[in-house]
Amino acid sequence: MSAPYEIRLIGDPVLRQRASEIASVDGKLVRLAEDMVETMYAAPGVGLAGPQVGVQKRIFVYDVGEGPRTIINPEIRESSGEWAYEEGCLSIPGLSFDLVRPKEVHLVGYDLDGNELSIEADELLARAFQHEIDHLDGVLYIERLDPDQRKAALRIIREQKLSAADLADAEVGAPAGRSGGFSLR
Ligand code: NI
Repeated sequence: MSAPYEIRLIGDPVLRQRASEIASVDGKLVRLAEDMVETMYAAPGVGLAGPQVGVQKRIFVYDVGEGPRTIINPEIRESSGEWAYEEGCLSIPGLSFDLVRPKEVHLVGYDLDGNELSIEADELLARAFQHEIDHLDGVLYIERLDPDQRKAALRIIREQKLSAADLADAEVGAPAGRSGGFSLR
């Protein structure tokens, strides 16, 4: 079984653009959310945002162990504390870095029935919310690393791309890199 979408990888311009607000929920959007959940599970990952499947809309899906959820037009109203966590991203496979972000956030948004959501999130859930909203704003987590970490990250990404190109030249196909994305290591 293959995932409905191919996950866009770093270097794809779609990951650097701000996604637009969703004006209304229709069957097409519900279908999109279902396909995003399936793509997220296949990866596997615990969160996936619209731009990662090439859709410039403010929607993300996640599952931190309580089943799949979808949030549209999310916004963080308040954040507090600090929490270091080893963060990864499905769009930057094979890489993860310790990153400090606020520990708690208050998120507002809408669910797929158009109901208003107001969620107080802590630790992993708060981290997922911040990471996915960054995607909707065209921001990748490596941009939030300190300069040394970012340099190391970019070097690894460059090396991966070089070896991927070598493999393609040899017609061996794409490398089967370790999947990233919020793995709880
Ligand atoms: Ni990500």
